Amino acid sequence: MSSPLIYGCMTIGGSWDDTPPDAGTVDRARTAVRTALDAGITDFDHADIYANGKSEAVFGELLAEDPRLAGRIRLQTKCGVRLPGNTAASGAPVHYRLDRDTIRAGLEGSLRRLRVDSVERLMLHRPDPLADPHEVADALDELRKEGLIRSVGLSNMSTLQVAHYQQLLATPVTALQLELSLRHRGFVEQQILANHPEGAQHSFPEGVLEYCTANGIEVQAWGALARGLYTGAPIPPEDQHAAATAETVQRVADAHGVSGEAVVLAWLMRHPGGIRPVLGTTDPRRIAACAESVALAPRLGHEDWYALLTAARGAPVP
Ligand SMILES: NC(=O)c1ccc[n+]([C@@H]2O[C@H](COP(=O)([O-])OP(=O)(O)OC[C@H]3O[C@@H](n4cnc5c(N)ncnc54)[C@H](OP(=O)(O)O)[C@@H]3O)[C@@H](O)[C@H]2O)c1
Repeated sequence: MSSPLIYGCMTIGGSWDDTPPDAGTVDRARTAVRTALDAGITDFDHADIYANGKSEAVFGELLAEDPRLAGRIRLQTKCGVRLPGNTAASGAPVHYRLDRDTIRAGLEGSLRRLRVDSVERLMLHRPDPLADPHEVADALDELRKEGLIRSVGLSNMSTLQVAHYQQLLATPVTALQLELSLRHRGFVEQQILANHPEGAQHSFPEGVLEYCTANGIEVQAWGALARGLYTGAPIPPEDQHAAATAETVQRVADAHGVSGEAVVLAWLMRHPGGIRPVLGTTDPRRIAACAESVALAPRLGHEDWYALLTAARGAPVP
């Protein structure tokens, strides 16, 4: 059974260069992962590019230290983003590449670094306009037949892209990862402003949550904490509504006796789309604070939910 929250491992490997992770980085990662496990989190999100592969390598080290851990967790990783000096040669432009060899090499590198034989899910990190979807689907189906992955995830894709892959793949598409938060709330604005001139100001893949719900594809939210914008991180002066939103978050948190992080995440989880936040914090206190969202989400009432939305958008709903 998967946990409502997913732990995002993007930053546990330290810097995004090729210096090896030092003991401090590994200690911080160990504390973060243990705190996440203690908070009931069973699912961990990776990508081949994170900290130049070091996030997966550090996680692999933690799995080697505690061989029983692998049986308690579910791993997903991503492939297809090519960063210079990371997954691409230095001097190459940042680009996306989803062909048979890149997908296989990306997964094999992740399995090697994570020190596991398979992962629950391989995600296509971003759409590559030059990819042949038939080749991509074939490549993923081969990986599944070989027992290296159990299912496919997609990330930063539109409704039609999801539908297309679902149609081509024999392997089940089980998750879509998108940036969703109180700040990045186009998914809600689009629903509210379906018949309103301001609707055009909000870009979000139309109907994607509805499509995923109807097809049993879970929606995962990256950037769910809005990088702490409403829970204590410095507010940039140009972000007009963030201070008022942070106050509303605190008011709701105080009323329910929970942390601000719990409110920010519960706002997403209260949506009937079954959204699973992917937490990017490495701070153990914040990880524990995030875990309070699980109990809060079903208790977050309509008025609190709309008060948070109204504060974040800086205007009442029409
Ligand atoms: N599919 C994709 O394209 C994609 C893109 C980006 C990320 N992801 C995944 O999603 C996960 C989360 O994404 P994210 O890290 O961008 O989003 P996030 O969870 O919204 O933000 C986490 C970041 O915000 C900082 N932060 C949180 N609260 C703070 C506060 N009160 N004060 C100061 N800093 C605060 C954290 O620092 P501390 O560690 O110090 O708390 C951390 O650096 C990643 O780990 C990765 O697994 C996926």
